[in-house]
Amino acid sequence: MKNVGFIGWRGMVGSVLMQRMVEERDFDAIRPVFFSTSQLGLAAPSFAGQNNGTLQDAYDLEALKALDIIITCQGGDYTNEIYPKLRESGWQGYWIDAASSLRMKDDAIIILDPVNQHVIEQGLNHGVKTFVGGNCTVSLMLMSLGGLFANDLVDWVSVATYQAASGGGARHMRELLTQMGQLHSHVASELSDPASAILNIERKVTDLARSGSLPTDNFGVPLAGSLIPWIDKQLDNGQTREEWKGQAETNKILNTSTVIPVDGLCVRVGALRCHSQAFTIKLKQDVSLPTIEAMLAAHNDWVKVVPNDRDITMRELTPAAVTGTLAAPVGRLRKLNMGPEYLSAFTVGDQLLWGAAEPLRRMLRLLA
Ligand code: HSE
Repeated sequence: MKNVGFIGWRGMVGSVLMQRMVEERDFDAIRPVFFSTSQLGLAAPSFAGQNNGTLQDAYDLEALKALDIIITCQGGDYTNEIYPKLRESGWQGYWIDAASSLRMKDDAIIILDPVNQHVIEQGLNHGVKTFVGGNCTVSLMLMSLGGLFANDLVDWVSVATYQAASGGGARHMRELLTQMGQLHSHVASELSDPASAILNIERKVTDLARSGSLPTDNFGVPLAGSLIPWIDKQLDNGQTREEWKGQAETNKILNTSTVIPVDGLCVRVGALRCHSQAFTIKLKQDVSLPTIEAMLAAHNDWVKVVPNDRDITMRELTPAAVTGTLAAPVGRLRKLNMGPEYLSAFTVGDQLLWGAAEPLRRMLRLLA
């Protein structure tokens, strides 16, 4: 059995990873060692009933070097500090990471095995030891639209995202919910009176949102009742870093020989943990919708083609319906007015599952 070190298992992505590992009985196949950056010496958690001793120091290189596999959800700063030192020390183990720091390195593979199993296997055969989870919007796009890429049908992709608060982190989710609560409380009495004027209610809500008194430490501006058309850092070319990742990571995951252009606008909305995306896809040729739907549905076990029907779409293609599941639904499929090679699609996916924890869990399973 492999010795597997867990770092950042208590955070939001780490907690989802632990939950999924328990569900899939992954702990039966490994010897887990739990690390902490702050609570070393306390009892380690027991997710699968074993006694896992005490928490080890996540900065103790000697303890880390004793591991066959390290899986970290601790974040980029930890990776940037520890990973180079470990590799320089000659450590040959497998590093599985949720953070983006190492994603674009030549000696790292972005893992999404239902989409790029062949790239992962090729990497393993060539001695690659560093495996990194992809950006959530990219992974979720490929889980839903993988069939089009696998059939080499995609000329380019234009996307508008509707990204959930969880993509920012746990504190962002709390902030969104707190903002929602404060906005509601502010007009609760008027709301309970059916005779009150809705525009007065709206004005009170808008005034409060603009007053500067809502908590905005994490998002910077109110998100509840609003949206933010900017995610992550500003790049010199006008893209946000989140938008830049779309093309860079998609092509790296697929190991394309000719770059498939992917670009668009990334927008934060008041959803909790599902990212949604609206796509315009330019196909390389005119393919009938039934053929497209069949290709999409056949690509992996989680994608689900949602018929372009009002009731089914409203029931099945929303964050509220998909949250907490591994489903990768894709719907609103139709040819656009621009011509028969232009396809629209809408996807929804849990940002913490396929968007973060699940590819890591499956990579661990592959190695263990
Ligand atoms: N960057 C993503 C977001 C998170 O902010 O929604 C996960 O990759």
